[in-house]
Amino acid sequence: MTSAPRILLTGANGQVGWELRRTLACLGEVVALDSKAMNLADADAVRRKVREIAPAIIVNPAAYTAVDKAEGEPELAHTVNAIAPGVLAEEAGRQGALLVHYSTDYVFNGSGETPWSEDDACDPLNVYGATKLAGERAIQASGCRHLIFRTSWVYGARGSNFLLTMRRLMRERPELKIVADQIGAPTWCRDLAEATAQVLGQLVSPLCSLKTDEPWGIYHMTNAGETSWHGFAEAIQALDEFDETCAPAHLLPIPSSDYPTPATRPLNSRLNNDRLEQTFGLRLQDWRAALALCLGE
Ligand SMILES: NC(=O)c1ccc[n+]([C@@H]2O[C@H](COP(=O)([O-])OP(=O)(O)OC[C@H]3O[C@@H](n4cnc5c(N)ncnc54)[C@H](OP(=O)(O)O)[C@@H]3O)[C@@H](O)[C@H]2O)c1
Repeated sequence: MTSAPRILLTGANGQVGWELRRTLACLGEVVALDSKAMNLADADAVRRKVREIAPAIIVNPAAYTAVDKAEGEPELAHTVNAIAPGVLAEEAGRQGALLVHYSTDYVFNGSGETPWSEDDACDPLNVYGATKLAGERAIQASGCRHLIFRTSWVYGARGSNFLLTMRRLMRERPELKIVADQIGAPTWCRDLAEATAQVLGQLVSPLCSLKTDEPWGIYHMTNAGETSWHGFAEAIQALDEFDETCAPAHLLPIPSSDYPTPATRPLNSRLNNDRLEQTFGLRLQDWRAALALCLGE
């Protein structure tokens, strides 16, 4: 009988990392590290820690995720999002471990209206997207066994995200102007963590029914369906419970051009999830169903 694999989890207090603590626990022994326990900006410390823990699987949801701030801190964003994944990949390769990493729809330039496939050309519009793309490439160049899950518009019950910001603002302001020309899929961090565990379960199970021996590479992984930030806000308002004395905030749709930010965002953030379904038989639930479950908590 083989023993349960040791799984090194980074960013354990982040949105996705927090959920992964639970979903990975049934697959092996999870060593969950926050940024204090392993600072991804310190390559030597990362190497030391990975060698000390000697995991069979490294799951890396940690990232520099402050999209606008990254425009003014490109070096730090590059160190955390590009150099560190490269170091984790080198160490994974050295130890024969599998690296699971997360990336973003922001690797694309947002043109057109067709959902992006994994093989479409990348052309990030902002520093964050460029550093995440560099991270993907560093992992691919290392030659280690890896899975890179590109996702979009992540939210959950904790952390910093659109859902929590909207819930607060809808109670504070009579009117909110919300961008309506960026289209994508809001994705519940819990669904990402569940799907990650299901994929890993297929890989570590002796009863694995995978159709390929070499599933390594990039996969798009988002909740199904699509909407705009304005549509997402409308759904939050419809599903959320408000005090009866509180008049619903008016949600005014605006174009991105009326809401300038330091980082330019892609208009088309749709990601085609077919490869995930074809390889692992997985499709995440519709974003509205996920939102209802998240708000139901
Ligand atoms: N959020 C989104 O909308 C979105 C969209 C597409 C893709 N993604 C990708 O999905 C993944 C998970 O995102 P998320 O929303 O869960 O992110 P998150 O909630 O912002 O969490 C990021 C985590 O990274 C950790 N971190 C940051 N700098 C670090 C450092 N120098 N050393 C070690 N840890 C560090 C943070 O630790 P501390 O809390 O200790 O600082 C935090 O726990 C990331 O790869 C992200 O790029 C996210």
